[in-house]
Amino acid sequence: LIPGTYDMATMGYADFGGGPAVGHAHGTGGLSVDTLTGPSSGKPDVTVVLTARRGSNGRYTLNGTSPGPEIRAVKGQLVQVTLVNDNVSDGVTLHWHGVDVPNGEDGVAGVTQDAVRPGASFVYRFTVQDAGTYWYHSHQVGHEQVRQGLFGALVVTEPVFAEGIDQVVQVHTFDGRRTVNGRAGESALDAHAGQTVRARVINTDAGPLRVWVSGAPYRIVAIDGRIVHEPSDITGKSIIVTAGGRVDLTFEMPASGAARVDVGAGAALVAGGAAAAPEPTEVVDFLTYGTRAELGFDPAKATRNFDYRIGRRAGFLDGKPGLWWSINGHLFPDVPMFMVATGDIVRMTIGNTSGEVHPMHLHGHHAVVLSRNGVAATGSPWWFDSLDVGDDETYEIAFVADNPGIWVDHCHNLQHAVDGLLAHLAYT
Ligand code: C2O
Ligand code: CU
Repeated sequence: LIPGTYDMATMGYADFGGGPAVGHAHGTGGLSVDTLTGPSSGKPDVTVVLTARRGSNGRYTLNGTSPGPEIRAVKGQLVQVTLVNDNVSDGVTLHWHGVDVPNGEDGVAGVTQDAVRPGASFVYRFTVQDAGTYWYHSHQVGHEQVRQGLFGALVVTEPVFAEGIDQVVQVHTFDGRRTVNGRAGESALDAHAGQTVRARVINTDAGPLRVWVSGAPYRIVAIDGRIVHEPSDITGKSIIVTAGGRVDLTFEMPASGAARVDVGAGAALVAGGAAAAPEPTEVVDFLTYGTRAELGFDPAKATRNFDYRIGRRAGFLDGKPGLWWSINGHLFPDVPMFMVATGDIVRMTIGNTSGEVHPMHLHGHHAVVLSRNGVAATGSPWWFDSLDVGDDETYEIAFVADNPGIWVDHCHNLQHAVDGLLAHLAYT
């Protein structure tokens, strides 16, 4: 393997090369190095050391647990995480999914850093600018390391103390068993009558997740770490959380003290012994949910327009013949980079005629949904970093290019990323 280049998708095996990583050294001419990394000096407000290990059962842990420790910070704080690789022979990195960090902290092996080899460590430093629910996971051989547990939750709260219960609901399927915060079946939710519960649902699996609350009226207050404007009651409906995506739900505990959050397959958080309610058939559509609010930029003034058309075709990937995912008809790595300049307003049409759903994840940015299948979004601005694009669906999205570097934009069904569904957004 050649230092600083890709081998397969970056989800696959990246090198341990000694050369400088691509994002730091090349391809970002004219930009200062400072814009590419987090603050190099200053005392961190939150300091965490995470030691990655692979067990003999093939499971990965961080500091001995999976999910790894929940990291909490307050908006504006400087977070410093030291990743130590104990014995992961493939190497390991940490990517801060949904946090728009400077490029050098993004944790993508083969793009922004080399994978951390056994016995070595890497320090990530970044300021958390936006309150919200996020997660972290390895971005080296991610399709295996994430599936087998190398991830954890990252919660950024507002500086003002919110009353009530603030509960992470991290959902992952281990060997066919769905778990919430690492536990299968029902676990206790410690909340009593009158308390407000904020449930931060994080889908760390490869496919969409159905979630519903019963026993109390509930609302969606945030999607992918971004606030929903004037959300309405969605009692009797369920929501779908995109693979890699997060949805924050709130409800007030009823006088009975009994309510529950179900994530399917018998896994749930249960307060007061609430009995299981049937799964609602109606699903909330984020396209129309909440009310309109300012975007902060004008998508009509786009300075770049891109197509990101997902298909499937025969060809070779890493020398292997097969049916691979294509982007605009090209197979990885022969997919032209999407080139932008700082300050661009970017519109992208994401189409999918590949026969499967793809949870598309753009690093380093939040984008807003403009339309789906030609139908304009009319609800609260639907900001996202992870978006399910179904077969035969077309989304029009927009974002501001305000975070220089080289970013991957890939399917978060991580096996699909290995099988070619990965592109790059690069700043000139
Ligand atoms: Cu959560 Cu590139 O991934
Ligand atoms: Cu996919």
